[in-house]
Amino acid sequence: MRSKLFVPGTRIELFAKALKGQADAISFDLEDSVVENRKAEARDNVARFLCSPEVGASDKMIIVRVNNGATAHFEPDILAITLPALDMVNLPKVESADDIYTAVEILEKAEKANGITKAVRILANIETPKGLLSAMEIAGAHPRVAGLQLGLNDLFESLSIDRQDAKNVHATMLAMRMAAGSAKVFAYDGAFADFKDERGFRSEAEMAHRLGYLGKSCIHPCQVAVANEVFVYSDDDIAFALRVLEEYQIAAADGVGAFTIDGKMIDLPVIRRAEAVVAASHRPQEQKQPNTIVSDES
Ligand code: COA
Ligand code: MG
Repeated sequence: MRSKLFVPGTRIELFAKALKGQADAISFDLEDSVVENRKAEARDNVARFLCSPEVGASDKMIIVRVNNGATAHFEPDILAITLPALDMVNLPKVESADDIYTAVEILEKAEKANGITKAVRILANIETPKGLLSAMEIAGAHPRVAGLQLGLNDLFESLSIDRQDAKNVHATMLAMRMAAGSAKVFAYDGAFADFKDERGFRSEAEMAHRLGYLGKSCIHPCQVAVANEVFVYSDDDIAFALRVLEEYQIAAADGVGAFTIDGKMIDLPVIRRAEAVVAASHRPQEQKQPNTIVSDES
């Protein structure tokens, strides 16, 4: 899931276009891009489109960002969009493990009511100071949590933190990456509003990639190709990883756990990373799940 394109739930003319585009995932939005008096309309639009044959036949990851748990829209949103085509629900402004437990309860109810036989997974947005400080607890709250997504617009604007200063972005990305890593869930980068600024988008995406993020949210189709290009391992990375694994076979056969390549020490953490790079180069990460039986304990 290198790229994930946001589509406002009110802009039905964009739905089919987004589905035909190059993004690995589509994230229909019911939250900040939808005005209050059109919330129900947006929810109905998205639910209807999720039932369409073209979504059914698509291999894109299908995500819906619902309204926050503190609003009256939260439960109706989840009940309406928990449909066979839905892979993940994106929860905005998550601040605690309790927020996850509440969402899981409603998801279970929705799956039962709608006859859904797979466990819809959760992408939890970290976009408030409290959320960032509780990110580790949120990431590990429930097996349904697939990943954390950073929301720098909300987080930085509310605290007057300058996003143009790359040090601020880096510190925050790293903090959330550690929280996601502690629970072995993925970290996902958020949106970049100035879609005409390709350099700015690319530089945030590259930073996120260097920090082990899976991909970046896009708000305009012009950002998709950049994300798809950035969130892959380079040929050099893959060649080096293959070399590490090859030399490790030889070293391990001699009972040696630490050895050198080009003067650099190679031991278990480097080997594990090389395995991950090679595995990721063979298959896209975070693929659409089949509609299987709900399997987590909850
Ligand atoms: N999904 C699919 N297609 C999109 C799209 C999207 N999110 N955004 C724009 N397009 C299409 C347009 O329809 C247009 O297609 P065309 O060439 O066939 O006419 C083309 O891409 C260029 O669009 P453009 O005119 O530059 O954009 P716009 O002015 O219509 O819209 C935004 C700009 C930012 C308002 C719009 O891209 C958008 O709503 N993005 C998502 C916002 C969102 O969901 N925010 C919440 C999460 S942070
Ligand atoms: Mg927001």
